[in-house]
Amino acid sequence: MNPTDWNSLAASYSVIRDSRLVSVFPATLRLLRELPCATLLDYGAGDGRFLEAWLDSTDGTAVAYDPAPQMLRIAATRLSRFGDRVQIVDTLKAVNQRFDAVTFHAVWMCLPSRATCLNCLSDVHNLLADKGAFFASVTHPCFRDRQFSTFRTSFDMDDYTREGSPFEVSLFDGEEVIKFTDFHWSLGEMSRQLHETGFTVQEITELPDVDREPWPRAFPWLLFSARKSSL
Ligand SMILES: C[S@@+](CC[C@H](N)C(=O)[O-])C[C@H]1O[C@@H](n2cnc3c(N)ncnc32)[C@H](O)[C@@H]1O
Repeated sequence: MNPTDWNSLAASYSVIRDSRLVSVFPATLRLLRELPCATLLDYGAGDGRFLEAWLDSTDGTAVAYDPAPQMLRIAATRLSRFGDRVQIVDTLKAVNQRFDAVTFHAVWMCLPSRATCLNCLSDVHNLLADKGAFFASVTHPCFRDRQFSTFRTSFDMDDYTREGSPFEVSLFDGEEVIKFTDFHWSLGEMSRQLHETGFTVQEITELPDVDREPWPRAFPWLLFSARKSSL
């Protein structure tokens, strides 16, 4: 399976109603508030939906980076009301500041090889200020065989230790459905990649589904909180 072409999916992705607005994003905003964070890079920012929530909650400034121009076009429209508090870029070459924090929402699963994961994490490390914070949310690798309120996947849990295995994701909101390919990185592998690229994990938060049962038996999302350490 080929990696997803996020340019051609951008328009349909951006209209899907996102349950992370009430789960992953508030948890990340709370952690950013606690730092505190005045400068944020959203790496793989997509259509800018997380930065919109962050910019609404703070006076800080942000950079939205994504390699898919169609995603950035939507992000530019969505974030235009924040004026020069946000910069939108399709390359990191010209970014010469260091950030208090970097967010990486739903990007890790798009990366098709270990080398690509390590390159992205090393980029993040280089762009963070000393002891800067890194927040990465991923669909929980231990529950890929469950159906959640806004997605299900084709992943076979017997392949749990097959790092980088591709699988199909259906993302839906009751009206729209989109399908794309993601790649499986186990919990152990993600923690190894973080260690190799100079991060110390501080906390792993497992986030329940929107229709939360009193005792959830599966979690759709997992949020890593890590700090830049020296290599
Ligand atoms: C599922 S979307 C998530 C977008 C946004 N972060 C969100 O939470 O809605 C994945 C994004 O990762 C971006 N992406 C894919 N490969 C990337 C890479 N190597 N480096 C940075 N971003 C990448 C895609 O262009 C796409 O916008």
